[in-house]
Amino acid sequence: MYFITSNEGKFREVSRIAKYFGIEVEWLRMDYLEPQCSELEEVARISAEIISKKIKENFFIEDSGLFIEALKGFPGVYSSYIFKTIGNEGILKLMDGITNRRAYFKAVLAYWDGKEIHIFEGKVEGEIATEIRGSGGFGFDPIFLYNKKTFAEMGDEKNEVSHRRRVLEKFFTWLQKSRDL
Ligand code: IMP
Repeated sequence: MYFITSNEGKFREVSRIAKYFGIEVEWLRMDYLEPQCSELEEVARISAEIISKKIKENFFIEDSGLFIEALKGFPGVYSSYIFKTIGNEGILKLMDGITNRRAYFKAVLAYWDGKEIHIFEGKVEGEIATEIRGSGGFGFDPIFLYNKKTFAEMGDEKNEVSHRRRVLEKFFTWLQKSRDL
């Protein structure tokens, strides 16, 4: 089965998690146009619909984002753009002086089975750190605290608790059940 993304960090994590479930995922490194929507679910569904017109095999994509409570869910669906522009330093500046540091990562997976799209989601709650810490992972990992360590300090442990792990666990469990039917 193909996993479509241009983000190497995402692919690395997805293939590693898939291995725990005994599933082999093939990387189709492709950039696709993401529609501007207010919900990750919509972005994932519409993107999968567009890709399904071109790719005939089964595939899945995953759209994710960081949602900060004190910033009313920002950067949310704009996470990729915000990371590229203001980055982790910019987020820490926006959070300067704010005591409510609660935030979560959410991932929405859209699977095209050749006929229709199936949607799954996973979420992990944590906090925004007050400084950049750690060198692992990608994106906002160095500022996302989970049990006192940032995702960037957790190494492979991240893959046991992350939003990506949670969404893939739901997807692979569903896939195994529907194959057994
Ligand atoms: P998209 O799903 O390609 O729209 O990108 C989501 C953006 O959210 C990424 O570019 C990262 O900046 C951020 N993001 C998503 N998942 C993670 C993660 O596991 N760690 C750190 N940043 C993430």
